[in-house]
Amino acid sequence: MKKLLLGAALIAGMGGMMTSVASAQGMAPFGSEEDAAYAAKIWQAMTEMNLAGASQIHVTPYEGTDPHGMMLETFFASATIDGYTGDLIVKRNYGPVGVSAEEVMSDPAAHLGAVTVMFRREAGYDPDNQNWFWVKYLPDGTLDKNPKGMMLAGMVAKGAEVGCIACHGGAPGGDYVFLADNTAATME
Ligand code: HEC
Repeated sequence: MKKLLLGAALIAGMGGMMTSVASAQGMAPFGSEEDAAYAAKIWQAMTEMNLAGASQIHVTPYEGTDPHGMMLETFFASATIDGYTGDLIVKRNYGPVGVSAEEVMSDPAAHLGAVTVMFRREAGYDPDNQNWFWVKYLPDGTLDKNPKGMMLAGMVAKGAEVGCIACHGGAPGGDYVFLADNTAATME
């Protein structure tokens, strides 16, 4: 099925090999108030771009896999946060198991489980991981939490064996993005 590509194609740039300062502090790399405030700005930008909120645009959802839900919509765009413009990837995760594209399209809000987002921040934010900021929102734009009660926003979960960064680290091309590679492969 078709995936809608908004804006320029994602360029897989190497984030540079600078040493990370933030990760050396011994603080949790995600879920701080600052991360939450930044995530709120991304949600605001998404709402203004009609990628979230009451006037959000829809495309035909495609079949997904764990952990992102059974039906997905994914949008590639760019957004400006605090004056910095970076790549924005928005994925809407629909369920439950067995739901059809038709059912999702007839009532998207009733089937939306979560919205997972990657935003490529300014150089130096997280050079180990190509400066991606990771967020998992609930359908109303508030932040989802992990079982320890930590908000899923920021470098989720840097240094851990599971989570956004660990799993996306296995994406082909080394850019932490799965879909762009697939999409590029099918665009002949
Ligand atoms: C266990 C592996 C795994 C984990 C954990 C995971 N993802 Fe993904 N993610 C994937 C796969 C596989 C895809 C591509 C699936 C698809 O859309 O068809 C994907 C796709 C995405 C995309 C669309 C861009 C892309 O890479 O194709 C976003 C955005 C995203 N994930 C965000 C997140 C966020 C945020 C988290 C953490 C809260 C997270 N993911 C955790 C495996 C994972």
